Amino acid sequence: MQVITIVQTKGGSGKTTTAMLLASAALNLGRRVTLIDGDVNAQLGRWRDSFELAAWEGAQKPEWPESLAILSPPESVEGLLSLLEAEEARGVDLVVIDTRPGTHTDTEDFCLISDLVLIPARPVYAEWEMTHRAVLWMDDLRASIAEGERFPAVRVLVMDAGPKIIDAATREGGMRANAKAPGGRLVADAITRQLEVAELVLTGIDEVIPA
Ligand SMILES: Nc1ncnc2c1ncn2[C@@H]1O[C@H](COP(=O)(O)OP(=O)(O)OP(=O)(O)O)[C@@H](O)[C@H]1O
Ligand SMILES: [Mg+2]
Repeated sequence: MQVITIVQTKGGSGKTTTAMLLASAALNLGRRVTLIDGDVNAQLGRWRDSFELAAWEGAQKPEWPESLAILSPPESVEGLLSLLEAEEARGVDLVVIDTRPGTHTDTEDFCLISDLVLIPARPVYAEWEMTHRAVLWMDDLRASIAEGERFPAVRVLVMDAGPKIIDAATREGGMRANAKAPGGRLVADAITRQLEVAELVLTGIDEVIPA
């Protein structure tokens, strides 16, 4: 089982979007996925709500995938570790932990129990400073733990996704509803391509932390 925490110090930098995209791509590949909503502002829970409440534009509403769970994190690190054990025991392949903006100790705890810390960034100059800060934060965290103790791999994920496509893919019923909406075929195709990109990202992740 792979455990990934998504970290970025600034709000609105694509953490939750990355979590949703990776989960969607992993489901497409037949993997079992658990998302842990490590942000106090439960955005992942709202993803599920918007799925349930979407109009679906006449498309038959599918069931929420049985192989995708969205959980709240337990209060303690011990609780988190036993939750991960339980998820592994029930055959989950991928756990993605979304976090809140800022440099909080709860986010550090999530990182320390993970195999990989992923720092999402868009390919624009303005994001490099904040991305650098996030990398330095992870360096400090690595320096703060005892020599020889396990530490996650840290990678920056640079991804340019059209915000409209991302919003269409992650809200209001996603691809199936959009396929029926006016002009929706184009949106649906773009979402499909976005998912292909996310599948490539998963392949890269498998190389860093074998599935
Ligand atoms: N790779 C990307 N390329 C372009 N736009 C993106 C990308 N990732 C996210 N976005 C857009 O940026 C906005 C913020 O994304 P998101 O909610 O994922 O950020 P966040 O880091 O989770 O924010 P917060 O810290 O507030 O939880 C969304 O409108 C989303 O569609
Ligand atoms: Mg978020």
